[in-house]
Amino acid sequence: MLDRFQRKITRLRISVTDLCNLYCVYCRPPQGVHHMPRKEILSFEEITLVARCAAQLGVRSFRLTGGEPLTRRNLKSLVASLSSIPGVEDLAMTTNGVLLRRYARALKEAGLMRINISLDSLQKERFRQITGGGNIEDVLEGIEAAVDAGFEQVKVNMVVMRGINEDEVEDFARLSMDKPLEVRFIEYMAFGCRMIEEKKFVPGQEVLERIRKVGDLVLADAENPCRGGAARSGRTAPPLRGPAKCYRLKGARGVLGLILPVSQPFCGDCNRLRLTSQGKLRACLLSGGEVDLKTILRSEYLVSHGKPSASLEKALVEAFIKASNMKPAIHSGRGEPVMCQIGG
Ligand code: 5AD
Repeated sequence: MLDRFQRKITRLRISVTDLCNLYCVYCRPPQGVHHMPRKEILSFEEITLVARCAAQLGVRSFRLTGGEPLTRRNLKSLVASLSSIPGVEDLAMTTNGVLLRRYARALKEAGLMRINISLDSLQKERFRQITGGGNIEDVLEGIEAAVDAGFEQVKVNMVVMRGINEDEVEDFARLSMDKPLEVRFIEYMAFGCRMIEEKKFVPGQEVLERIRKVGDLVLADAENPCRGGAARSGRTAPPLRGPAKCYRLKGARGVLGLILPVSQPFCGDCNRLRLTSQGKLRACLLSGGEVDLKTILRSEYLVSHGKPSASLEKALVEAFIKASNMKPAIHSGRGEPVMCQIGG
């Protein structure tokens, strides 16, 4: 599926819940979050139908997000359904890691391939403050469990914020020395839920300078560590590539990634759509347009012999095409995404 600007849409992010067990400073709107009644949230069956349709249109890479995806009961059964869809080459999840120790192995067995864990401080008290009460031990144990479970990739995402955690960039970089982790530094985007102002933005260039203090850096893009699924399918072209620029500290087991949505926007390479937990298919994180799939799913879900009707599939395909054609060339940056509902 190509959009109006000839970008090939190969990725779908699926938010499975708007609930979260943390309360992070950059994620929560000051007015609080209004959670949806349970029946407004797509069922696993509905999500699987949408994913099946996406796969038919050439989407190859799927990522589960939230809220916090692990707060949704029995997530592993959704993982199992998604991983059995023909055409799914990559299945990943973004989590805060709090519940990961308990679920890592089962998720791996169900077919999850890669995990991103959000972690913005390695200091106990600071972590508690940033997350509104979280216990860092839970997350560190979750990371261990993910590495032990043998995922293809375990990434740790740090959003770098001036005056909050910028002094920990070096410590995060060192995490990649002994463990096969990809530690990713993300530029803070000050939009929407403005509990923190733009002053907190730290340019990626400055992050890179801090990292260089830890050791010699080599470019690692060519090693292909950022290409979920591409290695498995033996492809050399990078249709599944994410936006990170990758480096390796000399002698390190793991990799470092920089994601620079502010200083080097990657809209031109954007290959994703986003499904919200309430069934809206969003064209872009920031620029508004969306198509309501839930109405389609619930008005046309005619089952014959246990399968969705052809008319449902046709309506979903049309909705996907409509949403991809809503993708702007470059986002306006003025959208108001509610991070906690769309999963970053
Ligand atoms: N700026 C940058 N990244 C963000 N995320 C959430 N909010 C922001 C923001 N304001 C990303 C983080 C987090 C993931 C869930 O979403 O990477 O790990």
